Amino acid sequence: MKYMVDSADVRAIKKINEYYPISGVTTNPSLVFEAGRDLKTLIREIREIIGPEKMLHVQTLSLKAKDIVAEAGRIVDFAGPNTYVKIPVTPEGMKAIMAVKAQGIGVTATAIFTPQQALMAATAGADFVAPYINRLDNIAVNGVEIAGQIADLLRTAGSPCEVLAASFNNIEQIHMTSLHGVGVVTISPKMFEKIIYHPLTDIAVEDFVAKGKDLYNI
Ligand code: E4P
Repeated sequence: MKYMVDSADVRAIKKINEYYPISGVTTNPSLVFEAGRDLKTLIREIREIIGPEKMLHVQTLSLKAKDIVAEAGRIVDFAGPNTYVKIPVTPEGMKAIMAVKAQGIGVTATAIFTPQQALMAATAGADFVAPYINRLDNIAVNGVEIAGQIADLLRTAGSPCEVLAASFNNIEQIHMTSLHGVGVVTISPKMFEKIIYHPLTDIAVEDFVAKGKDLYNI
């Protein structure tokens, strides 16, 4: 599994990057709004934290294809190598995905709620497609099933496009998503803390320390 952290909180990203095996960071305009920071400054700081090799997924805000393409170029200029431009799967977004890919820029198709949106974006050349699990669950559509269908469709089509499942509100959604053959998840910093927590692990460690503390003279 590739884990991404979904955040624009620089301190939280720094911590998660130290403690967990993340493949990179995803952001979106809402997260940037929460951080209340200028995008360019923020993205440069995140890149500094994660280094040049990890992925950084940064979303465009423009609505027209030609503006999205121009924005994508500006984003990769300041975000550095291994940057993927997130583009929502509107008609203008679809047109932009093809043009941005033609320039050799990595693309994550985002705001995906149906398998056909994902298939179309993958066919347009997107490197990743991002279905929103919890937002689907919120409208009584099984988000995990949708993500699983997308993974199956891409595998059957022999597509190199990867599913990057996003929008999680609990660990069960993440667990079921991984069982459905999805290879990449992006999750909030808080979720990272929860994902490996188990009280029995803490009890086991306390017991080991109590028993071994006078004998481990190493
Ligand atoms: C990431 O690509 C998405 O923008 C994000 O995960 C959406 O999550 P939310 O539904 O919690 O806002």
